[in-house]
Amino acid sequence: MTQHLEICEVAHGSPEYWETADLRNRVLRQPIGLKFSPEDIEAEKHYRHFACYFGDRLAACLMLDPLENGDIRMRQLAVLPELQRQGVGKSLVAHAEEWARKAGYRRMTLHARETAVTFYEALGYSRGGARFEEVTIQHWAMDKRLTI
Ligand SMILES: CC(C)(COP(=O)(O)OP(=O)(O)OC[C@H]1O[C@@H](n2cnc3c(N)ncnc32)[C@H](O)[C@@H]1OP(=O)(O)O)[C@@H](O)C(=O)NCCC(=O)NCCS
Repeated sequence: MTQHLEICEVAHGSPEYWETADLRNRVLRQPIGLKFSPEDIEAEKHYRHFACYFGDRLAACLMLDPLENGDIRMRQLAVLPELQRQGVGKSLVAHAEEWARKAGYRRMTLHARETAVTFYEALGYSRGGARFEEVTIQHWAMDKRLTI
C-alpha cells in the first residue's frame, strides 16, 4: 500500500491541519483522557505539519518542531488505527527526515512512548538518557543523525 501514499505539508489553521489535529486527538490524546487546549493549538503555529493520505483519506500525520540548538524534533506521530503496521508510519517518518535533511537539520530528536520505542529503533533511532514520565505515560528521549 505504501506506493499509494501521498505526503504533503499542510498549513496551521487550514482545514487539512484541523483534520490532522483530530487524528492526533483520537490516536494519542483521547486514549489517555487528554484534550487539546487553546495553548496547544497556539504553540503548534511554530511547527511544520505533515499529512499522509491514502487516496482521499488521512492515514497519518506528524509535526516537526525546529529547535534553537539547530536540531529538529518530531512530535505527535499518529497513524489511523486500521492502517497501523502496514508501513505508513515508516514512510511518513522517512519523508519528514528527508525534508529536514534538505532544510539543513543534522539531527532529529523525539520523545517516544515506551510502546513505540521498537518502531523508532527499526528506523535507526537510539535511546538516550533515562525513561521519564510525560502526559501520564513513560517515554524515552531518542534521536537520529540525519546523514547527507
Ligand atoms: C507507532 C506508530 C506510529 C507506528 O506506525 P506504523 O505505521 O504502525 O508502523 P510501520 O508499519 O511503518 O512499522 C515500521 C517498522 O516498525 C515495526 N513496528 C511498528 N510498530 C511496532 C510496534 N508497536 N512494536 C514493534 N515493532 C513495530 C514494524 O514491524 C516495521 O518493521 P518492518 O519495516 O521491518 O516491517 C503507529 O502504530 C501509531 O500511530 N501508534 C499509536 C500512536 C503512537 O504510539 N505514536 C507514537 C508516539 S511517540
